[in-house]
Amino acid sequence: MCGIVAYMGPKAVESVLLVGLTRLEYRGYDSAGIAVLNRGEIQTRKEQGKIKDLENLLQAHPVEGNIGIGHTRWATHGEPNRKNAHPHIDNSRKIAVVHNGIIENHYELRRELIKEGYVFHSETDTEVIAHLLADKLKQHPQIEDAFYQTILKIQGRYSIVFLYDGAPHRVFFARDGSPLIYGHASGESFLASDIPAIVPLASHYYTIHNGEWGWITESGEMQLFNSKNTAISPKLERIDIEVNQVEKNGYDHFMLKEIYEQPDVMRRIIQTRLNGSDGKVLFPEKAADNQFLGSLSRIFITSAGTSWHAGLVGKMYLEHLAKITTEVDLASEFRYRNPIAGGDTKVIAVSQSGETADTLASIYQAKSKFIRVLSFVNNANSAIARESDAYVDLMAGVEIGVASTKAYTAELLNLLLYALFLSGIKWVIGKTERQKICDEIRLLPSLMEETLRKSEVIKQWAQNFKETKDFIFLGRALDYPTALEGALKLKEISYIHASGYAGGEFKHGPIALVTSDVPVVCIAVQSEIYEKMLSNIEEVKARGGKIIALYTEGDKTVPKLADYSLPMPKASPLLYPILNSIPLQLLAYHVAVARNCEPDQPRNLAKSVTVE
Ligand code: G6P
Repeated sequence: MCGIVAYMGPKAVESVLLVGLTRLEYRGYDSAGIAVLNRGEIQTRKEQGKIKDLENLLQAHPVEGNIGIGHTRWATHGEPNRKNAHPHIDNSRKIAVVHNGIIENHYELRRELIKEGYVFHSETDTEVIAHLLADKLKQHPQIEDAFYQTILKIQGRYSIVFLYDGAPHRVFFARDGSPLIYGHASGESFLASDIPAIVPLASHYYTIHNGEWGWITESGEMQLFNSKNTAISPKLERIDIEVNQVEKNGYDHFMLKEIYEQPDVMRRIIQTRLNGSDGKVLFPEKAADNQFLGSLSRIFITSAGTSWHAGLVGKMYLEHLAKITTEVDLASEFRYRNPIAGGDTKVIAVSQSGETADTLASIYQAKSKFIRVLSFVNNANSAIARESDAYVDLMAGVEIGVASTKAYTAELLNLLLYALFLSGIKWVIGKTERQKICDEIRLLPSLMEETLRKSEVIKQWAQNFKETKDFIFLGRALDYPTALEGALKLKEISYIHASGYAGGEFKHGPIALVTSDVPVVCIAVQSEIYEKMLSNIEEVKARGGKIIALYTEGDKTVPKLADYSLPMPKASPLLYPILNSIPLQLLAYHVAVARNCEPDQPRNLAKSVTVE
């Protein structure tokens, strides 16, 4: 949440910052701003709303220069308006600061600074940094000394980037908690919250670590220090993200593009993890952790939002295939319930962004109890990957749409393969059966493609739900989390109230909600709970409810009962949580578009939530 970008180099800074901020818009989009340092003067432009609004402002009031910083905001302290938008400047207009995270001692600092005569113009915690820096400059005239003193004084989670007109050839930064990378190209330097912001301009990057600070220069260099103020040499890595990965490539929205990318994501995972015909599953990136797996008898999965739903499916995979008792916790709750664990326990943290503060806190909680942590992340450079003992790369590729789609199904497939991998280590499933499951998994990409071809049907349905106020989603067993996820997706991007329930629970209360105005989405594909889902459908129908059903092709019963029905290809029940997600993603997407909502940037949300 909140995106930062900075640039120094020969290009016009305004356009580099705007492209970067647009790519970071998934991190927050309630207001945005830039500051440019030109001929010794700092100029700022800020606007409430999206990057498009800032762009319009810049068209009317352009800025010139080659050194600048930008920010797209997800409000924590103070309303989303122009006044609270970053950058924030000190009273002498010499310093302009952008910040991602929370300065926890900002009240105390604000009080002290006001006593000293500093005047605040916003309600943000960020503004204290600008005034504190100005104050430190009084005793420490070298800006780097003043900055180091400032860092020592502030508490919380942050990445900070600032301009100072007394040092016109440098842009300064510090990180402690929120993500920040340095980007390098010949004669150009960048700072950004995430790599997509600087693709394709930068060729190499370095992930700035917690406690590190320094500055970049216009000749493409970075000076880096650790928290003890000792200079360190960064080791740069090549950026291997192609520009087409961060653009819409002809799709109306990133979300739709990412929905359609899912078969290729599955192919990539299958090729990497199931590359032989012997039923062996490979997790090479976590080899270092394998030695403890024989004695593993208990797993806690911790995660948030969509990743929590992946965890619920993961539990069933782990219990069914590897026979390991698994509990699933909301990351935000895990740390408060003091879980009981011994040496036979592992925590699996699932997070597409790898930055979710709640999930990170649950990892710290686990480590305080000496529990080993394995994370499933889509970003190997993320804080969650770094803080875990080992990590599994989801291999979903860059996901920009705020509502997670391909990262979710990548979580599911990786969890399924991990359960299969453990089943081999623990000798729970024989080679022949494992091989059979692997063969079924290999069919997944083409089954997904078959399902995606039905998008047009769902698009037509969506027209009938433009005015709908409530939706219900029902599923059982492996499809229960899919029902929860289908409801969440619809809520997130279309703002229609939706609830998911386990089919068996429906009669214990929620059935009271059924009227002809409340569509009930029933996941009724062929599996051991098929008959029970038929009962759910009958019960809804008897009360005049409208049924939208997913069923297995060839089934003659469900389409006769349902008002809207979509045949799903025949597949192993293990794959249905992945396959059934697709029509529910498409339903959410098409309903959102039919209601003129912006699916890529739903109101109030951010893709990566770095505050608890
Ligand atoms: C935010 C996003 C959700 C996401 C959740 C967990 O709330 O809006 O879509 O599911 O964070 O994110 P993670 O990156 O940990 O999977």
